[in-house]
Amino acid sequence: MGNLIIENAKVVTPVGHQALRGKEMSQLRIIPHCYILIEEGIIKYIGDGKNLPLSLDSNEYVRLDAQGNVVLPGFVDSHTHLVFGGFRPDEFEWRLKGDSYMSIMERGGGIQSTVNATKKATDTHLQKKANWFLKKMSEMGVTTVEAKSGYGLDFATEMRMLKVIENLQDNPDKFIDIIPTFLGAHAVPPEYKGKTSEYVDLLIGMLPEVSKIAKFCDVFCEKNVFELEDSRRLLEAAKIEGMKIKLHADEIVSLGGAELSADLKAVSADHLLHVSEKGIKRMAEEGVVATLLPLTAFALKEPYAPARKFIEEGCAVALATDLNPGSCFSGSIPLTIALACIYMDMSIEETLTALTLNGAAALDKADMIGSIEVGKRGDIIILNSDNFKVLPYYVGMNCVKTTIFAGRIVNTQC
Ligand code: NIG
Ligand code: FE
Repeated sequence: MGNLIIENAKVVTPVGHQALRGKEMSQLRIIPHCYILIEEGIIKYIGDGKNLPLSLDSNEYVRLDAQGNVVLPGFVDSHTHLVFGGFRPDEFEWRLKGDSYMSIMERGGGIQSTVNATKKATDTHLQKKANWFLKKMSEMGVTTVEAKSGYGLDFATEMRMLKVIENLQDNPDKFIDIIPTFLGAHAVPPEYKGKTSEYVDLLIGMLPEVSKIAKFCDVFCEKNVFELEDSRRLLEAAKIEGMKIKLHADEIVSLGGAELSADLKAVSADHLLHVSEKGIKRMAEEGVVATLLPLTAFALKEPYAPARKFIEEGCAVALATDLNPGSCFSGSIPLTIALACIYMDMSIEETLTALTLNGAAALDKADMIGSIEVGKRGDIIILNSDNFKVLPYYVGMNCVKTTIFAGRIVNTQC
């Protein structure tokens, strides 16, 4: 928890303590030439710097001159699978040659092949590898990331994955906040083939323990994986256990996952490449955040999710990377921004809101992070430009110069 004074900042931020929906997503607050005071990790003051209300001795603060450059809230990557064993480059090549994601999965590859590698990996290995991804994310300005289990598919390995996430959280030199999600319903393991509902019973039995670590319960709600009734049963049980819920919905086919997310008042439904018109309307009605993952559509050569339709219907859209070893081996925030602006027709303002305040709302954390406001955590990034419109212009290249987590400078690049 740092004490920091940022001078000469050009703050660009969405404003509020909940997701911004529809047209609201374009409304940013821009404050040139300002000072930001952070004490014990919390933003205490934003203003012209005259008579800074310091509570501590002035030498207890680090001073940082932003040199008039753009200062944004830290990015929130609200959907990742960053703990896993092994890699799957051969599958990527098979897909290049025309194979499909689902046919590889149905042949026992895909998620199951990462499950096998994760079971073999030691905790130390999983943790070191995940930490490498976290460092890269921090360099790209991410200050909060969600991390899912889901490569265990049995109680012991799912718990190991969640404990790895918990250990990464407990780091005294923490540079990023990690929100854990239980995704035991990621695939049906071979020993339960044809007995999906028995596997769902097993998952329901895990909830009392996994919910001690995981804040969210997620499900790969997809044809021939967990269909609507199995997904509903698991998520209803998770809610009773006090967990918040999310869904991988309508990723490969239009199954009605979006409608289910609305019925269950999920915090977010994610992917949504094949969402129905009705699904969009229902999500808008119930205030479910639509978390769109353009890197996955790009890597799978699928159509992009209909971001404009979501926004026009008054939904809150968040953007995230979906970093995972299979469908999308990328955690690139710059490329996510460029794809959202170029192929999903999102404006730069909407994209920024989607990666900050709406990402925070997708993790049920908009009260504490996602915007630069007094009372929120001092999670802030400084760009190498005085113009926030450079964000998509840097196609796949990083324009984040400094990352600040809870008032501590955790990354600086020249
Ligand atoms: O979000 N589709 C389900 N889960 C991940 C992919 C996981 C994997 O292929 O390892 C996704 O796309
Ligand atoms: Fe995913």
